Amino acid sequence: MTGQVYWEAPSNIALVKYWGKKGLQLPCNPSVSLSLSLSKTQTSLKWVKKERTDEFSFDFFFEGEKKYLFEKKIEALLERIGPSFSFVKDYHLEFRSSNTFPHSVGIASSASSMASFALCLCSMAKALGHLDGPFYEKASFISRLGSGSACRSLYGGVASWGEFSWQEKKLGSDLFATPVSKVHEDFSEILDFILIVDSSPKAVSSTVGHSLMNGHPFLEARITQANKNMESVLDALYKGDWETFQNVVENEALTLHSLMMNSVTPFILMKPQTFLLIEKIQNFRKKTGAKCCFTLDAGPNLHLLCLKSEENLVRKFVQEECKKHLENGRWIEDKVGKDGPKFEEA
Ligand code: PMV
Repeated sequence: MTGQVYWEAPSNIALVKYWGKKGLQLPCNPSVSLSLSLSKTQTSLKWVKKERTDEFSFDFFFEGEKKYLFEKKIEALLERIGPSFSFVKDYHLEFRSSNTFPHSVGIASSASSMASFALCLCSMAKALGHLDGPFYEKASFISRLGSGSACRSLYGGVASWGEFSWQEKKLGSDLFATPVSKVHEDFSEILDFILIVDSSPKAVSSTVGHSLMNGHPFLEARITQANKNMESVLDALYKGDWETFQNVVENEALTLHSLMMNSVTPFILMKPQTFLLIEKIQNFRKKTGAKCCFTLDAGPNLHLLCLKSEENLVRKFVQEECKKHLENGRWIEDKVGKDGPKFEEA
């Protein structure tokens, strides 16, 4: 018996950052992100019946080539999914993936790839009659076990992960992400100019980064701040309040890097050009009043977010003032994708 499925899942960029985990990939604080439209991982999964053994059996090909290092991550994911997916041991799996974006440019490939694997595994479970519970919730749950932030890549637009309070209601779950639908129409089109400062591979993995939050002197304060920022940014998205949005998003980006800089083993991922560009963005905004702001992932590259109405002004700014400070003068233009993951009959 054999079968095949194909899924495409978006990467995402966090507005409120998940930083620090507990238990089995549970977040220390709630987070919320924007799913991108063009930056995606495309994955096909083929399964072929085999003699049952106690081992998982699979191959992973990235852009046509076998990738042994990434196989370890898939193995860890399969081990973590647990008994509800033990039927997988009856099959040999073949994952084939490719990304629509380059490596190490500040676009999280772990998020889009783990989300696409989880979707494929859930489709396989569904095809074989082993899926229980709502499809996307399950896929989000599984992708979380591969990479925490991946669980938000299961939805288009805005997605939150973790328990939080908003409008006096307790919402969200630490186990899986949920879509945020209460978004003002002024925020319906957000563009993301990804300014590539340095594309060398990350010096510190996010696993190490998260672990440095254990015993971090500011852990409690960070959790309180993230919860407050979560409420503020959701309010801003709901009301169409750009100023609050901008303040929270920039505060979160700088907080993420500050937490890295003052952990017991400190590390600095920003480069001099990162600071220079932040200053340029702030001056440009002061001068023109453009509705744009920056955020950062765990790396030196900037995401310059803006409303669609500012597109031409911001592109001109990038071309004229930022380009000369970018690695090979390169940036990537993306935007928030409303559609979320895409399935195709294989
Ligand atoms: O999902 P991970 O373990 O790669 O962690 C991602 C953490 C950040 O990208 C820095 C923040 C986030 O919420 O996406």
